[in-house]
Amino acid sequence: MKKNFIALIMLLVAAVTVSAQAKKVEVPTPSIVPLPTQMVTGSGVFTLTNDTRIVTQFDEKEIKYVKNALNEIMVDVFGKELKSASKVKDGKYIVIKKDATLNGTDEGYTLDINKDGIVITAKAAAGAFYAVQTLRQIVPIQAYETTIDLEKVNLPIVNIKDSPSLAYRGFMLDCSRHFWNVETVKEMIDILAMHKMNRFRWHLTEDQGWRIEIKKYPLLTQIGSLREQTTTGHNVGMDGIPYGGYYTQKDVKEIVKYAQERFITVIPEIEIPGHSLGALSAYPWLGCRGEEGNYKTWSNWGVSPDIVCAGKESSFQFWYDVLEEVLELFPSEYIHIGGDESPRDAWKVCDLCQKRIKENGLKNEAELQSYVTHRIEEFLNSRGRKLIGWDEILEGGVSKSATIMSWRGAEGGIKAAKSGNMAIMTPNGHCYLDYFQTTDRKDEHEGIGGYVPLRKAYALNPYDQLSPNEQKYIMGVQCNLWTEYIPTRMQLQYQVLPRLSAIAEIGWTNPNPKDKDVEGFLTRAKELSRYYYVYGYNFGKHFFEDGVQEGW
Ligand code: ACM
Ligand code: ZN
Repeated sequence: MKKNFIALIMLLVAAVTVSAQAKKVEVPTPSIVPLPTQMVTGSGVFTLTNDTRIVTQFDEKEIKYVKNALNEIMVDVFGKELKSASKVKDGKYIVIKKDATLNGTDEGYTLDINKDGIVITAKAAAGAFYAVQTLRQIVPIQAYETTIDLEKVNLPIVNIKDSPSLAYRGFMLDCSRHFWNVETVKEMIDILAMHKMNRFRWHLTEDQGWRIEIKKYPLLTQIGSLREQTTTGHNVGMDGIPYGGYYTQKDVKEIVKYAQERFITVIPEIEIPGHSLGALSAYPWLGCRGEEGNYKTWSNWGVSPDIVCAGKESSFQFWYDVLEEVLELFPSEYIHIGGDESPRDAWKVCDLCQKRIKENGLKNEAELQSYVTHRIEEFLNSRGRKLIGWDEILEGGVSKSATIMSWRGAEGGIKAAKSGNMAIMTPNGHCYLDYFQTTDRKDEHEGIGGYVPLRKAYALNPYDQLSPNEQKYIMGVQCNLWTEYIPTRMQLQYQVLPRLSAIAEIGWTNPNPKDKDVEGFLTRAKELSRYYYVYGYNFGKHFFEDGVQEGW
């Protein structure tokens, strides 16, 4: 990450004070989001200098990206990377040690800052990476705010033992309603890493555009990624401007690798069988009405009534072929197959779909969708992968091995957990970052509706209504950004930050609702926003007591 050039504005002020600051022993108590499990502060300081050495007691290949992350911070502060050393000598060291006996998961760590140095201990590189993310927030903000390369910076004496509560801590980005270039996606991945989130859910196919290159079906991107124009307002008018964009397989590989280097798994979503007009516009035979359907990638927002025909065997072959290429690109164990908002009206009047229902003894179209989901799941399982779908896939019955992503409130996730299916909680009332974050709409962009202020995001309780035994089926939490009304990077970040920090803390720390310190979180979130500022991230400021509404 680079220091924001906005920091230049502060340069004049900072230049006058910085040398005095560097000499002064002035260290604030660490303020960290997500809140560590355990943190004990001591008195005194450790002086980190540009001469401090990094010593790793880890396999070099395994620890490479942890060192990169550490050195990113050092470059921001000192203007250069720290040198490595093979052994600890007196004082001035950062040690990263492997300790297989440590309690907690592979993502857990200990971070000990004493007067001689910094010692990070982890079972695996992921844990050491999260220790570095914690260290990022312990280095005082002034060290990043100044554009002068420092020689030293004082850090507080502190001992942290930390480990995540939930294994899955995700964020979903809709790249179909609006397309986000590789750089913007990478910047989002940086933001996730900073918050110790570990899943990037990539929404790639839609009624409004197919966004991933599939070599066997080139028209998906040549035709399906384009729409003639885009609606304005809530389907009021049309802007008359052609819109498109897609990721080549090379782009996908680059993003998957970039995420891996930040200990983030990318989980793609290929929508089956709905939200598919992009595909139908390219290959009309996929639809129940074929060529007669005159399908076009949608310019409107909403849910298209046309979905892929489940009566034709060629539709299954299409899904298998697409997934085959997707599996090559994404090593993720889990693949998301959508399944949400699939109106089944076209199936009701399609001879082939009705024939399939009859031949398989299905009761109705909901069971036909369930038939589709089962066959796709069998395919994924045969390739050693697992299926995730939105909570609609529960409607016609699902296998025990399917994971449910609960978005229409928590009910789907609760039902799943009670029946022994794994669930990921992303109820819209807490986790939909496209919803408004303030009631003061005068400075707000056009939005989809809804209201999720920061406090509401933080009020998420993924274990609500579940017994301790049922809670074991909650794999994690996720926040989502649907992008119908979000055309720019600045607005994207404005919607995401700081609310993503609330979901990140629920995922990592998941405080017992009885002990939730909302005011403490808000204070730390405010402190964290100073880091957003130096990194040049846009963010909502509605939660500041003074109601600062800068005109971003
Ligand atoms: C969704 O918001 N349709 C999952
Ligand atoms: Zn059909």
